Amino acid sequence: MEKVYGLIGFPVEHSLSPLMHNDAFVRLGIPARYHLFSVHPKQVSEAIAGVRALGIAGVNVTIPHKMAVIPFLDDIDDHARRIGAVNTIVNDNGRLVGYNTDGPGYVKALEEEMDVSLDGKRILVIGAGGGARGIYFSLLSTAAKRIDMTNRTVEKAEQLVREGEDGRSAYFSLAEAETRLDEYDIMINTTSVGMHPRVEAQPLSLERLQPGTIVSDIIYNPLETKWLKEAKARGARVQNGVGMLVYQGALAFEKWTGQWPDVNRMKQLVIEALRR
Ligand code: ATR
Repeated sequence: MEKVYGLIGFPVEHSLSPLMHNDAFVRLGIPARYHLFSVHPKQVSEAIAGVRALGIAGVNVTIPHKMAVIPFLDDIDDHARRIGAVNTIVNDNGRLVGYNTDGPGYVKALEEEMDVSLDGKRILVIGAGGGARGIYFSLLSTAAKRIDMTNRTVEKAEQLVREGEDGRSAYFSLAEAETRLDEYDIMINTTSVGMHPRVEAQPLSLERLQPGTIVSDIIYNPLETKWLKEAKARGARVQNGVGMLVYQGALAFEKWTGQWPDVNRMKQLVIEALRR
């Protein structure tokens, strides 16, 4: 019998996940289909009960339900528990287990797309919202030398560093971080600054950027933010948000099926769709 997978969120209409997963199911000859489920915030518990009752094999979870689903699951893995958000649920013979592949997907995309090892690297994370949380805690499980945080509301960066309880991290105001750019090998924008439609905005001044620094943005609309364009012009190696989108999906796919999909093909499909 064909297995059913899907995405629950509100709204979900513009998601590119069905494109990636359905293509991978076909390519790998897996009899399964990925659907979009628009779930009103008042009906999260019913939606999860529905996953159980209907025997849906697995779901992704997106905004605004990543925290709300947790009380209805049977178990949650350590990383998802630490960040307090689930983006992937596996239905293991009726037992629903929550994971979060966003941060791990980001780190894997960074390592593979930029062909870099994070061992000994000095990293600056810009932002302290939901996106930053998963990325920061995933970076803490690498052998990076420093993982510093900066945010417009510096108290939120401070809070994350406190939670991280890791001597490799410090936090700075945006203004202070701007004066220290030459101290970093890798810089990551996790904020929405520069995203469509406010494409002129930039999260941090790049005046002190050293050529050769890796500059990464989790935004994929536009494919190249103004910030990445400027970083490139200053000699940085740049990465956009498509990698994180694809790799979080690939890691979810692997949890559901035990198989690793063709990420380059997924990437190509996503980029084609974003260009349309
Ligand atoms: P998400 O879950 O997508 O990360 P979020 O939790 O609302 O969204 O976090 C958005 C991040 O972008 C935060 O770090 C936010 O900074 P504040 O904590 O100071 O709000 C940052 N951000 C959003 N708009 C910004 C702006 N115009 N300038 C600087 N930072 C901004």
